[in-house]
Amino acid sequence: MTTPEGNKLWGGRFTGATDPVMERYNQSLPYDKRMWREDVEGSKAYARCIHRAGLLTEGEMVDIVKGLDKVGEEWSSGVFVVQKGDEDIHTANERRLKELIGDVAGKLHTGRSRNDQVAVDMRLWFRNAASSLKSRLVDLMRVMVQRAESEVKVLMPGYTHLQRAQPIRWSHWIMSYVWMLRRDYERLVQLSDRSNISPLGSGAIAGNPFNIDRVTLATDLKFSSVTDNSLDAVSDRDFIVEFLSWASLMSIHLSRWAEDLILYSSKEFGFVTLSDAYSTGSSLMPQKKNSDSLELIRGKSGTIFGRCCGFMMTLKGIPSTYNKDLQEDKEAMFDVYDTLEGTLQVATGVITTLKIHEEAMRAALSPDMLATDLAYYLVRKGVPFRTAHGLSGGCVALAETKRCTIDKLTLEDFKTVSCMFEKDVLEIWNYETSVSQYKAYGGTALSSVQEQIHNMLNWLSELRI
Ligand code: ARG
Repeated sequence: MTTPEGNKLWGGRFTGATDPVMERYNQSLPYDKRMWREDVEGSKAYARCIHRAGLLTEGEMVDIVKGLDKVGEEWSSGVFVVQKGDEDIHTANERRLKELIGDVAGKLHTGRSRNDQVAVDMRLWFRNAASSLKSRLVDLMRVMVQRAESEVKVLMPGYTHLQRAQPIRWSHWIMSYVWMLRRDYERLVQLSDRSNISPLGSGAIAGNPFNIDRVTLATDLKFSSVTDNSLDAVSDRDFIVEFLSWASLMSIHLSRWAEDLILYSSKEFGFVTLSDAYSTGSSLMPQKKNSDSLELIRGKSGTIFGRCCGFMMTLKGIPSTYNKDLQEDKEAMFDVYDTLEGTLQVATGVITTLKIHEEAMRAALSPDMLATDLAYYLVRKGVPFRTAHGLSGGCVALAETKRCTIDKLTLEDFKTVSCMFEKDVLEIWNYETSVSQYKAYGGTALSSVQEQIHNMLNWLSELRI
């Protein structure tokens, strides 16, 4: 019997044709074709699985596997011809398989549904994507740590509330972001491990009735285990939400990093200069050199979070189990992945080629940034910190009244604030000695920064990337 939709996988019960606008609206092939390889691999494994279960003869299984290889070759050499009615990658591949090997192709889908098929394809695709992102992330971290190591002597102002706070090492600033990225890396490993389970064998919703061995099937596809509930398996997109929220957090880290460097590269700060390779000019103002690379990193973090938020909104009202809304998962995943591939490479390029201006960083240090050191001086002489803080504040105020910087106060001036001040107070005004106090691990003293760099390098060297 032929019906208007008879050549569609699901056409049998239909008498009316699909509206052409609906046809396009429904189609995911334009974007899900990038999962062609995973779809072919998943189908080959499924053919071997139903052969083991006695549903395909050896010959049928071989024909299907060879046919699928041919379909894969067509995609990889760019000669696969999409037909009207190829709704998604799954229907396109099966349609082509049937053209290549005939009716036996119809046995491949025995007990399988596009619901478990798409879930398996997405997990396979994500596994590769995560591994590529892991190595890009590690590339970036390596370059950052190298800089931190070689420029460890450089001092700069550390900021809170964007106000000069205390002198720190430039490397300490770099490393603060490396630790964020390390947590991002660890989270990515965890979430990609968590997603590496096989939904195949869940069918449309109820499971598989043909006595297949799901564990062997999962092992064939290098999954670590199988899903436990077929209803959950066909509609579980948690791994995509986890990926999108992971991506949001990582890009927020990089956005903050970019924002710091945008400020530091402005004439007002003058701490760094971006290489021409990662800057652009203005079409109107000839003098301009803009940090577009960093602005895009900052801007795209918003778009990434938008994807995360958008897909969570898509999910929130879906009734159990598979619903077509879930098709929206793919563009979110692909788009965020593509954006991050770019972000991570551009960030790596920026930090590799950036020039720093040590003198400008040092010139931005001001004696008032050592007011805390003045308080610590008194603490070392036995004054309780709260009192010392007040007395140091008194010195800051005195310098303001005398219209001089705090380091220009004389011993007599200091003594008017507290008799605890002695001659050695005049030795405080040294940025090198200031940073060298922060020796406790995690602080900005040379030895502590070197130790954190050493620990990070150890961790990086143990990665199998
Ligand atoms: N293209 C669909 C998607 O991405 C595949 C699953 C279709 N399943 C269905 N029951 N219509 O979600």
